Amino acid sequence: MSEETTYTTTDSGAPAGSDEHSLTVGPAGPIVLHDHYLIEQMAQFNRERIPERQPHAKGSGAFGTFETTSDMSQYTCASLFQPGATTEMVARFSTVAGERGSPDTWRDPRGFALKFYTDEGVYDMVGNNTPVFFIKDPLKFQHFIRSQKRRADNNLRDHDMQWDF
Ligand code: HEM
Repeated sequence: MSEETTYTTTDSGAPAGSDEHSLTVGPAGPIVLHDHYLIEQMAQFNRERIPERQPHAKGSGAFGTFETTSDMSQYTCASLFQPGATTEMVARFSTVAGERGSPDTWRDPRGFALKFYTDEGVYDMVGNNTPVFFIKDPLKFQHFIRSQKRRADNNLRDHDMQWDF
């Protein structure tokens, strides 16, 4: 093998026999389970997707700087809210029930999440554009969000489920 030859390796760095053909017993024989590279490929493939979060799955954000321009010290001693303080941060806007790829035009509340990288640690703050949060008891949150999202068994929304809640 010349120095210029490129070849695929297993995750542990050993050269793989082929990136296109599984290991078989002879040209027409069965594929063997000790084909380490094949098993590694399948194991990795089966796990490479990150499961989508439940609410607020679709959104986009931007990094920026937050500057406190007024004197808020009568309300808080947090350093990021003291006059003149500037803090690196990110703002993320999201829908609630829509999954990744869902249209922005669907009727849905909007989320507004802020993450401040302050000198006292990371400070997260969430907001919704609803005047009143839709539930009082967090035990109802799972039932409610499930009723708004697609069903796990048929991937469809279900108006009965929504009204039942
Ligand atoms: C019963 C109380 C609540 C529960 C159980 C709850 C639960 C959740 C969960 C599970 C997530 C997804 C987190 C993730 O997968 O990373 C989430 C995200 C979010 N929640 Fe809530 N939530 C509650 C109250 C609220 C309230 C009161 C607001 C705003 C007024 C809010 C605004 C948001 C926003 C904006 C996000 C998206 C955050 C982001 O963009 O990363 N939630 N919530």
